[in-house]
Amino acid sequence: MIYANWKMNPTTLKGAEEIAYFSDYEGVTVIPPFPFLQTVRNTLKKAYVGAQNCYIKEQGAFTGEVSASMLKNIGCHCVLIGHSERRRIFNEQSSDVNSKVQTVVAEGMKAVVCVGEEDSGDSLGQIAEQLVDSLVSVNLNSVVVAYEPVFAIGTGKACPTDLARERRFFIEQLLKETFHWDKKINIIYGGSVDDNNALSYIKEAGFDGLLVGGASLKEDIFKSIVESVNL
Ligand code: PGA
Repeated sequence: MIYANWKMNPTTLKGAEEIAYFSDYEGVTVIPPFPFLQTVRNTLKKAYVGAQNCYIKEQGAFTGEVSASMLKNIGCHCVLIGHSERRRIFNEQSSDVNSKVQTVVAEGMKAVVCVGEEDSGDSLGQIAEQLVDSLVSVNLNSVVVAYEPVFAIGTGKACPTDLARERRFFIEQLLKETFHWDKKINIIYGGSVDDNNALSYIKEAGFDGLLVGGASLKEDIFKSIVESVNL
């Protein structure tokens, strides 16, 4: 599974169509900004489409917001929730993340829930707080956890494979112990993924997929990533 998080890019519909064309692989989910969702969805033949955020209510007087049911209705397969940029820039708390995850799951979509240490303090404590508070009372069958350490996001300084493997194991154990979850849960890695390191997160660190930001906008690199992990 490769999730292509375009963030707030590109700036034109034509640009979005062009990126969608070269992203259209089985096993890929393209996650563009809201205004491009419909066009991207119509362009894709093999890949799924997902959204970057949603609101906690289904409809009503919430100017400027977009609901999970609207996203479902236009064909979204999943919604990214609790990305560190949303937590940091928009002050989203894990309790908000939890409410959003509940609405996404209730609509029958997958919630791709992002967690990751925000500073070099108590890294495991930060991950544990985000994970547990974001997923309380959630049906984990509908969740993909994305481990994204903030130091690795958009910096070109990807997480060392050994550390990523330890974090993946920690997340898996925490879900088992806290939620008594014995079934498989998909855990993906994100943060400066490129064509040189993509495979190591799958092969060596044991992740089930990747969340790719900047590199998903570049045709050659994205193609190499997809080919390297052999979806
Ligand atoms: P990046 O972003 O690949 O550009 O580091 C990943 C993400 O924020 O999802």
